[in-house]
Order: sequence, then C-alpha cells, then structure tokens
Amino acid sequence: MKKQIKQLKKEKNAVILAHYYAPVQVQEIADYVGDSFYLAKIAKQSDADIIVFCGVYFMGESAKILNPDKKVLMPDLTADCPMAHMVADGVIDEMRKKYADLAVVCYINSTAELKFQSDVCVTSSNAVKIVKALPNKNIFFIPDKNLGRFVAEQVPEKNIVINDGCCPIHAKITAEQLLREKRRHPDALVLSHPECEAEVLELSDYIGSTADIITYSKKSDANEFIICTEDGVDYKLITDNPEKRFYYPDPHPCCSDMKLNTLEAVLSVLQDEDKEVFVEDKIRTGALVPLEKMLELAK
Ligand code: 13P
Ligand code: SF4
Repeated sequence: MKKQIKQLKKEKNAVILAHYYAPVQVQEIADYVGDSFYLAKIAKQSDADIIVFCGVYFMGESAKILNPDKKVLMPDLTADCPMAHMVADGVIDEMRKKYADLAVVCYINSTAELKFQSDVCVTSSNAVKIVKALPNKNIFFIPDKNLGRFVAEQVPEKNIVINDGCCPIHAKITAEQLLREKRRHPDALVLSHPECEAEVLELSDYIGSTADIITYSKKSDANEFIICTEDGVDYKLITDNPEKRFYYPDPHPCCSDMKLNTLEAVLSVLQDEDKEVFVEDKIRTGALVPLEKMLELAK
C-alpha cells in the first residue's frame, strides 16, 4: 500500500499532510506531519494540485479555505472534531451587542461557519501571542473553555469571556489518573495540552500544543515524561528521543476520529479522488479573513 500511495502521489502531484494524532502508518508516509498551525501554514504554501489532509474535518476545511483552487481530499470525510460545533446559536451576536469593541477569537478547531462569524483564528501554539497582540479589551473565546481559560490566565489585562465547549478526549483525563501515573514514575515531568481541564494543568510542569510538547521533550534534560494529550504524538516523541521514556494517563487518550485516517483510506482516496472538501463561497471568503489574520499575527 505504501508503494502504491507513493506512486499515485507522484503521478497526481499530490501532497499528504498528517496531524500528530493520525495513525502511525499514515505519519510514516506523509510528506508533512505537524500540529494544526504548522499544517495550516504548509497548506497555504503548497504548490501541489491535490492536498490529502489526514486529520479531522475542520483541518481539511481550513486547507480548502486557504486554497480554493486546489483539490482538498480527506481519507474519511466523517472524521470530525466534536468540539468544532460547540458554540450555541446566537451567542456570538449576543456578545457583540454586549461589548462594542468585542473581538471574537476562534480556536481553529471550529466549523467554517463559526470562523465566518469570528475576527481572528488561533491555534494552541499561538493563542496567547495573538490575544495579547489584539487591540481589543473584550474578547469572546470560542469554542474551547480550557484553552480559553489558559489564555485568560496568561493575559490578565483583558476581559476574556469563555465559551463552554471542550475536547471530549482531553476532558476525560483526570487529576486522579495523572496522580496515579506520577506515583508510578516519580521522576517524570508532566507535559500537557492546554485542552486539558484545570485540575490536570495545575499538576503539569509544561503546557503547550502538540508541537510545543515535542520540542520541549527534545530539549529537556529529563529522561521521563508523562504526556497528557492524544497518544498519536508518541510516534514522533519516540522517534526523536529513542533513549527517553514516555507515559500516558491510563486509559490512553485516543481520538477515534483522527484514527479514521487509515492507510487503506489514504490509498483509496488517492485512487478515486472521491472524498473532496467543499466550502460554500460566501462562508469561504468570510472564514478566510480570520485565518489569514492568524497567519499574519503569528509571524
Ligand atoms: P494542536 O494545536 O496541538 O495541533 O492540537 C490540535 C488538536 O486537535 C488538539 O486536540
Ligand atoms: Fe477534536 Fe479533541 Fe480529537 Fe483534537 S483530540 S481533534 S480537539 S476531539
């Protein structure tokens, strides 16, 4: 399958992008593997005719918004991030009425319709920097309450109203699970994704995006780490640091949507080109504004 994928990629001038949570076999054959921010930048720069996005729907959708003339395919169009939908109808309009200077800051893990209603997008690797750089005093942060709270703590000078959504995978990690793991590995540092609940982040030595966690563990002098994020990052962590040890809360956090990106599905979509991402023109042009603002402010 890997050989066939390689061959088809060449024939069709296609590029394969995969998130760190995608299955290992897919990370192995991808041209680029990264966090949401890196993949959005790569999608914007790519000169391929076809982008095969091995992630969840909002990622493929963002790639299409940034590249309307390219064919964006996904191995499984049903791979979705539940958090991307967690903003109640009408709440953004209500907030805009309440605060005249409001900036709606939209985590990239959101639908194109939500981006369309927002002022700027962020990812977990640039949210603090971007919120700090905005001139607005009043911020409505959607959809993730955990990343929103993490940002609010780093930017106390702003009034940050936080929407009540969350990632079901990260929210399932409990302080109890983490403490159990810490007792098993007392010398390990705890590295956590900001989508985790406050009780987990309070017990963490470092908080950052998947790419930040990977960079931190590589630079650190420590040899053991407890990783509070989806266990797909393990592939990159052990490839980069074969001599170090990585542990996860029990049960391992696993995003079943990300795991729909199987090698079989990648081959099939390259053969048939049938699972294409489309975004309605009006939504696409509106959602492009906050995405491009993010790319600009994150520089
Ligand atoms: P990153 O911003 O680290 O890529 O995280 C995306 C994500 O879906 C986390 O659950
Ligand atoms: Fe969405 Fe959570 Fe899966 Fe990330 S891990 S894609 S936030 S459901």
